[in-house]
Amino acid sequence: MGNELGSVDNATAPSRPAPSTFGPQAVPLAITVNGKSRTVQVEPRMTLAELLRGPLQLTGTKIACNRGACSACTVLLDGVPVCSCMTLVIDVGARNVTTIEGLADGDALNPIQEAFIEHDAIQCGFCTPGMVMSCTALLQHNAHPSAEQVKAAISGHYCRCGTYPHVVSATLAAAKVKKV
Ligand code: FES
Ligand code: FES
Repeated sequence: MGNELGSVDNATAPSRPAPSTFGPQAVPLAITVNGKSRTVQVEPRMTLAELLRGPLQLTGTKIACNRGACSACTVLLDGVPVCSCMTLVIDVGARNVTTIEGLADGDALNPIQEAFIEHDAIQCGFCTPGMVMSCTALLQHNAHPSAEQVKAAISGHYCRCGTYPHVVSATLAAAKVKKV
């Protein structure tokens, strides 16, 4: 039976493999966070932010709006900033997740973290880990950004304390120190 758009012959149509399904119960998944491989049990609906702050106890990543509007929850996936509240754990795949906890080397803070402190780029601190992650990604891809490029990198971040000028000066200062 066909129509003006054509007809389909079910007898000769190529068969497609059934899509794989997960859940709704928790399933085991491998994930790499800050260079360390982990196996976690997650319901497919779990977001990366929930996994980090809950089972993995990496509470440096903040959840503020939980709807992709503020960027407080920013982490890096293979160096690319993403909102972890809008990323399902099952979609991370083989990409390495870098969180704020992954920037320091033991007790030695990363230059961008030092610069945030030095330039008073922290007030309440709720937006700060996400800001730091986006500025880190910027410096990893552009060692000597302009002020305008820093502003563009943090344009999705919402800081109710108004630290933006300090974040820009901190990032420009970190760029002068050494590669982040
Ligand atoms: S908490 Fe994820 S974007 Fe606001
Ligand atoms: S430092 Fe308070 S929201 Fe940015």
